[in-house]
Amino acid sequence: MINYIQDENNIVTLSFNMTESPVNVINEGSMLAFGEALEKALADTNVKGIVLTSSKKEFLVGADLNMIIHIKTAVEIQNAANRLHQLFRRMETGGKPVVAAINGSALGGGYEFCLACHYRIAVNNSKIEIGLPEVMLGLLPGGGGTQRLPRLIGIQESLRPLMEGQKVRPQQALQNKMVDALVNSQEELIPAAKEWILKTGNHIQPWDKKEFKIPGGGVNTPNNAMVLAGAAGLLRKKTFGNYPAPIAILNCVYEGLQLPFDRALQMEARYFAQCVMSDVAKNMIRTLFFSMNDANKGIARPKNVPPIEIKKIGILGAGMMGAGIAYVSANAGLEVVLKDVTLEAAGNGKKYSHKLLSEKVSKGRMTKEKSEEILSRIQCTESSGDLSGCDLVIEAVFENRELKAKVIQETELAMDINGVFASNTSTLPITGLATASSRPQNFIGLHFFSPVDKMPLVEIIKGKKSSDYAIAMCVDYVRKIKKTPIVVNDSRGFFTSRVFSTYLFEGFEMLAEGIKPSSIENIAKAAGMPIGPLAVADEVSIELAYKINKQTEADTGVKNESRAVFVINKFIEELGRPGKKAGKGFYDYPAGEKKILWPQLSQQFPISENQPSSEIIKKRLLHIQALETVRCLEEKVITTGKDGDLGSILGIGFPPHTGGALSYIDSIGVKKFVFECEQFTRKFGNRFRPSKKLRDMAQRDEKFYS
Ligand code: NAI
Repeated sequence: MINYIQDENNIVTLSFNMTESPVNVINEGSMLAFGEALEKALADTNVKGIVLTSSKKEFLVGADLNMIIHIKTAVEIQNAANRLHQLFRRMETGGKPVVAAINGSALGGGYEFCLACHYRIAVNNSKIEIGLPEVMLGLLPGGGGTQRLPRLIGIQESLRPLMEGQKVRPQQALQNKMVDALVNSQEELIPAAKEWILKTGNHIQPWDKKEFKIPGGGVNTPNNAMVLAGAAGLLRKKTFGNYPAPIAILNCVYEGLQLPFDRALQMEARYFAQCVMSDVAKNMIRTLFFSMNDANKGIARPKNVPPIEIKKIGILGAGMMGAGIAYVSANAGLEVVLKDVTLEAAGNGKKYSHKLLSEKVSKGRMTKEKSEEILSRIQCTESSGDLSGCDLVIEAVFENRELKAKVIQETELAMDINGVFASNTSTLPITGLATASSRPQNFIGLHFFSPVDKMPLVEIIKGKKSSDYAIAMCVDYVRKIKKTPIVVNDSRGFFTSRVFSTYLFEGFEMLAEGIKPSSIENIAKAAGMPIGPLAVADEVSIELAYKINKQTEADTGVKNESRAVFVINKFIEELGRPGKKAGKGFYDYPAGEKKILWPQLSQQFPISENQPSSEIIKKRLLHIQALETVRCLEEKVITTGKDGDLGSILGIGFPPHTGGALSYIDSIGVKKFVFECEQFTRKFGNRFRPSKKLRDMAQRDEKFYS
């Protein structure tokens, strides 16, 4: 587990090399082994110093989260954190200089290890990440990070890395003083570390020196007092108190920097235990770490299909979506044929890639040669014939069933027999579209989100006849473009659009009821949604919601009489305010200024005298989405609860602190959730009615996750 190598100069290199896991992590076993190796080196009077490195690609990627979430009590967590503190203290006060030779990514506890070394040298490789991302999973750096980093680089400088979990490349880490030196290659790393030991060999940490002063001053200097108060205010504004971890980090910095170092570490351990025990951390770790990793590794991929090497893809329609799909695909190294009705239209789609790549070049994030190489992979065309040889063709033409049927048939004539055809339709059921295909087994849905280059999720939709091969092709493709796939069954609106529309519609209902529009918008954000329902409806266009509703009514023969649809119809048919693109929707968009809620909204929908509490508004907006997620699970649109959680966060923006729509129900308690939904059903209508299964779960006191 730890390679112990002593050289002719009596410098010991301790190299992490965990055999039972693909990466080096901090757990009971690795820390025990490290402790023994450390004691051996410290006890040897000949040893002049210790180099700490890794035999794997990564240095150390942090604590074993599986271990953390299985610890049952706060006291046990606190004890585990204190044991780690003792080990790190032994290393930094053991009387021998210790250098971190950072050969690969050093994250979380891995970087905290480096902080407890007397010197840090990293390889200047842009693939290496350094930082303390614990906060992204509802945790705080519990290996002394909240205490050592501000003491090393200053309070103000440490707040972003600690509170935002910002990961940096070695070059920036050097600028931030998070590392002390860089070398250009792996070969130079260990020699440079040894040279430092022989030449400098300092073995006392700054904070263990009598004369120690925090760089930039302590918490009570006028500047730092202002910075800390500002950080607390900004945090409140950004997170509405939904995330306990960054608050705890701020407390650790504020309180800990006024304490002697060892007491400060004990205090950090207490805050760490609080974070680990919180529902927020448990939920975030489950969904944003475990479920996300599983999805990214292709858990949904049919096992019976060997890996498919995708080289060339075709895209039909170079509009907003097609252009984005072309960009992410070319960026991932694929050859792209981008087809539109004219060469000019296809060329316009390619310009989008040009724009994004030029921005990267001008910001110094990409070389001009690299950007040209990526652009050269996108071939524009107006002819279906050019699609021959494509492993996968993604259709993103207008949302019109007849047009889609026409392009499916045209394209299949040019495609190879094994090629897979995927539709990016946002609303049309895949099984229906597949009837236009001569090879329905090779036909599937691939639902991207806008803007394609930013949104992390892709929903793969199985039609009734979609084959395992088609699913595997799509999973492999989505992984190749470095997005997260979930595989769902066919349904009107699939999973994400179904849930998303309940959020919009609830906002419209509230507007029609006379709830203040500003309350709807602000409380939605306070609940943790990234954007209010009215603003997001403007973004995706109210007209689109109108068209989808009309299509649904025509297809199902059922007229939607809800107040939400009344609002949509009024905006399109009567008020002519289709959304942001037209410069008018629920908001006005004055040129060059911030958008403002349309001042006449309150004339159209008079404000009621009885405004509900913010708690009720919050619950209505989140409960309705959670209920729809449960319906999707019961109807087998999604096949696992984890997909529901992951899809709701990544695809819809359901508040990440909840761990997703189903974890949200668990945190409230199924019983209480059902009770509240029944109350809402009586007050607001049947859309809140919990299913029989959910009521049974409540009766049996069951949860989605044990
Ligand atoms: P868009 O209107 O921006 O682009 C459609 C493009 O298709 C146009 O450039 C048009 O010239 C082209 N086109 C029309 N007939 C064609 C043909 N026979 N061959 C090749 N190209 C043809 O539309 P957008 O927004 O990109 O949407 C495309 C599809 O993606 C739609 O089915 C839409 O429902 C779906 N979608 C849209 C999302 C969005 O946020 N806009 C999100 C997810 C899916």
